[in-house]
Amino acid sequence: MKLLKNWNLPDLREAGKRTRGAVERVDTFMIPANAMNMGEGKHYWISTYGCQANERDSETLAGILETLGYGQAESPETADVILVNTCAIRENAMDKVLGELGSFKRIYNARPDVIIGVAGCMAQEDEFVKRVLAHYPWVRLLFGTHNIQDLPALLAEAMDSQERVVHIYSRQVEAYVNLPVKRFGKHKAWVNIMYGCDKFCTYCIVPYTRGKQRSRRMDDILEEVRQLKEDGYREVTLLGQNVNAYGKDLDEGLDFARLLEKTAQTGIERIRFMTSHPWDFTQEMIDVIARYDNIMPYIHLPLQSGDSDVLRRMGRRYSAEEYKGLFDAIVKRIPNVAVSTDIIVGFPNESDEAFQHTLDMVKACRFDSAFTFIYSPRPGTPAAEMEDPVSMDVKRARLQKLNSVWNELALEKMKAYEGRIVQVLVDGPSKRNPGVLSGYTETNKLVNFTGTGVKAGDIVPVYITAAKTFSLDGEMTGPRR
Ligand code: 5AD
Ligand code: SF4
Repeated sequence: MKLLKNWNLPDLREAGKRTRGAVERVDTFMIPANAMNMGEGKHYWISTYGCQANERDSETLAGILETLGYGQAESPETADVILVNTCAIRENAMDKVLGELGSFKRIYNARPDVIIGVAGCMAQEDEFVKRVLAHYPWVRLLFGTHNIQDLPALLAEAMDSQERVVHIYSRQVEAYVNLPVKRFGKHKAWVNIMYGCDKFCTYCIVPYTRGKQRSRRMDDILEEVRQLKEDGYREVTLLGQNVNAYGKDLDEGLDFARLLEKTAQTGIERIRFMTSHPWDFTQEMIDVIARYDNIMPYIHLPLQSGDSDVLRRMGRRYSAEEYKGLFDAIVKRIPNVAVSTDIIVGFPNESDEAFQHTLDMVKACRFDSAFTFIYSPRPGTPAAEMEDPVSMDVKRARLQKLNSVWNELALEKMKAYEGRIVQVLVDGPSKRNPGVLSGYTETNKLVNFTGTGVKAGDIVPVYITAAKTFSLDGEMTGPRR
């Protein structure tokens, strides 16, 4: 296929380069004249895959579209603009996205004016972009994680021209702050504290798709939290690929402990943060979490593997013993803390013994919850080049074994909640049963409960009557606040 000159195509090699020094911050957002009010009377649909960073990016995409006058569509069938915000972390994420893009052909055939666009991490991968350009002619717009602020101009270009618009930067970019946002939640909000990642774990595509670590200024973050509090939000989650490294790129002597403490002092009711990297987790951070009641006693602390040799080959920068040391320090200092984790099985050349070390660690830590994955080679990452004699059948069996071990231990932990009273921030009626309410405890446990006179956003005491592996059942026992 002939590639047009004005396309900016992705380049993973370029994206993996890092220069020293701070990144420029841009806090103005300009709408070009030809895009102004272009969405009046029109509607958009956004489909989001992947992590919280993507959820938050979709809120920005929606915010920009609403600034242009677009309203939210009831379904993709009635939308004038459809955007798919993609994830590249594992291969099955790509299969799902391609499946959805395939299903949009029908909409395009019925309404060829519809603009179908692809954004996000997968758009940073050249193989994916080439595939979409070759086989999905109804996709008219492709842009990457660094080009969100260009959406008005890109949409205007896609509407005016018969050509497809492809705009993806791989070079190190400036950080755009203060873009418009449409929050999808009314009581819980995501707050970006940093973008990108410089850790380069050998299996991971994120440092390439999201670029160099760029921390936001602390004053901007605190101002956003204060504003959210004023607007009635009760919970914020501070977001970053590696929140514990916050500030290291700023040369201002700031770190995550200080940011957490300052955030706690805003008085917002619930503070969460994710994701933590064990290597950057300090005792001071643990102390701050322990000291403030509004910092929730819940930590997502990816282990990835319980074997020191695998961890070394993953480029994780800690040994199994060091992880356990940190885990113990957290549990000792923070009463009732819940810890969840991520684990990858079947990393190249993982031996039976190495896998056993992971099981041993899971038994020793008794995680509250675990997100478990089979290793998925990501082209362009160092691990994708490693030899891997372990069969997929063995990897599947390991995943199953791991899941049964952590499930059983987590259920025991959940059982300990029976007969206790927990504080639940209410999301609303439960998805499965509209007669039942649901929400989350301070330790991030999903609770389904009965109660009257309760609305979304309330915090209520709930008496736990029964525990399951993934949720608790209960009854409201006192007044809401
Ligand atoms: N294969 C499988 N799992 C992966 N993760 C990241 N990259 C890969 C990969 N190539 C997992 C890690 C990470 C979580 C978000 O996704 O466990 O913590
Ligand atoms: Fe990926 Fe490692 Fe960065 Fe997490 S810390 S985003 S696993 S490179």
